[in-house]
Amino acid sequence: MPKFIQLTDVHLMPPGSSLFDTDPEVRLRLALRDISAHQPDADWLIFTGDLAHHGEAEAYALLRDILDQETTIPYRLMIGNHDNRDTFRSVFPDQPVDENGFVQSVIDYDSCRLIMLDTIEHGKHSGHMDAARLAWLERRLAEASDRPVYLFFHHPPFRIGMNGVDNIRMVDDEALLAVLKTHPAIRHMYFGHVHRPIAGSWHGIPMSMCYGLNHQAALNLGDSRHRDRVGPAEYAITLIDGPSTVVHFHDFLYLYPEIVTPGMDGSGGFKRTMRTGAVPSQAMPEN
Ligand SMILES: [Fe+2]
Repeated sequence: MPKFIQLTDVHLMPPGSSLFDTDPEVRLRLALRDISAHQPDADWLIFTGDLAHHGEAEAYALLRDILDQETTIPYRLMIGNHDNRDTFRSVFPDQPVDENGFVQSVIDYDSCRLIMLDTIEHGKHSGHMDAARLAWLERRLAEASDRPVYLFFHHPPFRIGMNGVDNIRMVDDEALLAVLKTHPAIRHMYFGHVHRPIAGSWHGIPMSMCYGLNHQAALNLGDSRHRDRVGPAEYAITLIDGPSTVVHFHDFLYLYPEIVTPGMDGSGGFKRTMRTGAVPSQAMPEN
């Protein structure tokens, strides 16, 4: 039974640097420790972009070290508008790309296919898929034949009702939709970029997105400002069982209030947590 985990918007900084009063390295390590402790049977970790906040080689090298240290689960890395494709590829030469160098790839199960897409155009925060990338997607969909397909993007191609995010959505929506219509069984689409938990559908295709690991977008429906705030973080576990696709969202920081709200303990709470290295128990209360 396929089981994979989405993590998104790590926004890693060079070692020792914080971002918006929180530490993306600490949050990533805690996510991976929580997964190792409680989801060790996951097949894949899929990172849906914004791996490094400024796209520096030092941040990607730190990401590589953290993944080496904290997980044995295979991972697939996608890029976001904060990333630098060339720098990313120089640090992760083992991560697959397509024939044009875009960070696009597939993962095949007997029962389904996952397709990871590159929606990045350097110099822009909005998302783009040119003819070459769309043609690549159309070929990968055709290869899947009648197997169900799961798609991963950084940018959503539709509005979510928050102007600050909608202004930097993926703009090639009509061309993408035309390609998606060539496959009869697209089961789900996953997105990063938004830094909020959202579920719904686009032209009948179910979709979801989840909190980023480091910082979140405030819920400003209709507001033109895109205000980042520190807050909870989560990863999303997908379980596929025959005709059912179930996505669980897990707030792995619920026992770390000093990380969710930095400075709560007045003494650099995240550093204390890292010294203990503790992973919270997930014993469930009886209903
Ligand atoms: Fe992001």
